Amino acid sequence: MSRLFLFQLLSLLFVLFPSPSRSYPFNTAYHIDCGGQANSTDRFNTTWLADRFFTAGSAGLVSEPLRFTSLTEKTLRFFPISAGKKNCYTVPVPDGRYYVRTFTVYDNYDGKSRTPSFDVSVEGTVVFSWRSPWSEDTAVYGAYSDLFTAVSDGAADVCFYSIATDSPVIASLELIQIDPASYNSSSTGNNSILVNYGRLSFGSEQWGPGFTNDTDLFGRTWQPDAEFRSPNSAQAKSVSTNHNILNTDQSPNYFPMKLYQTAVTAIGDGDLEAERVFDVVINEKNVTRVDIYKEVGGFAAYSWHYTVKNLSSTILSVKLVAVVGVPVICGLENYAIVPVDLSTVPDQVLAMRALKESLRVPDRMGWNGDPCAPTNWDAWEGVTCRSIKGESALVISQM
Ligand SMILES: *[C@@H]1O[C@H](CO)[C@@H](O)[C@H](O)[C@H]1NC(C)=O
Ligand SMILES: *[C@@H]1O[C@H](CO)[C@@H](O)[C@H](O)[C@H]1NC(C)=O
Ligand SMILES: *[C@@H]1O[C@H](CO)[C@@H](O)[C@H](O)[C@H]1NC(C)=O
Ligand SMILES: *[C@@H]1O[C@H](CO)[C@@H](O)[C@H](O)[C@H]1NC(C)=O
Ligand SMILES: *[C@@H]1O[C@H](CO)[C@@H](O)[C@H](O)[C@H]1NC(C)=O
Ligand SMILES: *[C@@H]1O[C@H](CO)[C@@H](O)[C@H](O)[C@H]1NC(C)=O
Ligand SMILES: *[C@@H]1O[C@H](CO)[C@@H](O)[C@H](O)[C@H]1NC(C)=O
Repeated sequence: MSRLFLFQLLSLLFVLFPSPSRSYPFNTAYHIDCGGQANSTDRFNTTWLADRFFTAGSAGLVSEPLRFTSLTEKTLRFFPISAGKKNCYTVPVPDGRYYVRTFTVYDNYDGKSRTPSFDVSVEGTVVFSWRSPWSEDTAVYGAYSDLFTAVSDGAADVCFYSIATDSPVIASLELIQIDPASYNSSSTGNNSILVNYGRLSFGSEQWGPGFTNDTDLFGRTWQPDAEFRSPNSAQAKSVSTNHNILNTDQSPNYFPMKLYQTAVTAIGDGDLEAERVFDVVINEKNVTRVDIYKEVGGFAAYSWHYTVKNLSSTILSVKLVAVVGVPVICGLENYAIVPVDLSTVPDQVLAMRALKESLRVPDRMGWNGDPCAPTNWDAWEGVTCRSIKGESALVISQM
């Protein structure tokens, strides 16, 4: 699969005016406690739903529950091969754009001391590939993963595909509706999924939904930048302010004010309002000159993004090179732009689901999600597919 990389840089200066507070206009949100038996509210006042919307599988529990602070991280759902090779969560939602977050953990829940290999798709496109052995940390403590996707068929499909005979596993699944214009979707469109490969808040600890009481309307969580700084950034120092920042929590990306209240800059610079002009160098290529004061004035949020095409290394390096004053940065997000895979024509999907009902096709046949997609997984057992219309959709050619 060809992958383009989009990369976002956010930057700041500060303002003294409060930003207007309006209610967030997108209200569909599901927080599903996979394997959980009861609805619950966590210590951050998020309401979790008892496990539902899944096609099959069994509920499980991590082997050392005391390691996890949140109930939703301790319980999980796994899909043994007897439940079929392909299983899904199908959550009915209004069409639109969504933030999808999963929490995946193993913690030897099955006593086999072997992490499973499996793929995860969203809306019929493979987005995550888990391969055994997982890193020690992830196996024991689990990991959150997230992405942005469009939903245009009335339901969000998150599917799991067993590699060999391993049991896919998931501990929580969240779907939060976001602004349809976010992340410049007019150019990336509904035909791409943005898979998150890092979301840093400079000069800060981990924060956001599930970690602290700080809000982020999209549900994004932000991780500290410190471990990603290069050794020659020794002169970098963290700064923070309680001032209000203009242009935060605004359409379409709703970056929270907290993101802009901490930053990393260079030692010896005490004046947050000073003029700052710097060049942004990505993978050794000078891509832009930023003059924050000229762009937005003082005490206001500024963001900028850049797409790296044909990324050939696994490391993305970002350098801020001073021109006037010293550079400053508050946040940085990195996404893989994954083109949406082909899917089966909608009429045939409906017909096949009806057939599944009337024939009472057993779980082990894996007749879940799209009959033919993702294209690099096996189709439903007993079904053969091919592409049509100049390779823009899939149809069933044989049963
Ligand atoms: C959990 O809440 C949902 C929505 O409010 C409700 O439909 C469901 O019956 C509840 N489930 C349990 C197990 O209480
Ligand atoms: C988050 O806020 C709620 C309600 O204000 C409070 O009860 C809770 O203690 C807070 N949690 C943390 C971890 O600060
Ligand atoms: C918790 O959430 C409920 C609605 O989900 C809200 O009514 C209540 O005010 C919230 N409590 C706190 C302390 O934020
Ligand atoms: C969004 O993408 C379009 C087309 O690539 C570009 O012209 C526009 O400047 C972008 N908008 C923002 C806010 O970056
Ligand atoms: C994406 O899909 C939504 C909902 O189906 C639609 O309203 C919107 O116009 C689409 N956007 C683009 C860029 O095609
Ligand atoms: C870096 O690129 C920007 C815009 O492309 C340009 O204005 C600037 O002069 C360049 N910097 C250097 C040091 O060449
Ligand atoms: C990316 O690779 C494709 C195919 O190898 C090539 O056609 C295209 O020109 C490359 N794009 C850039 C920006 O290098």
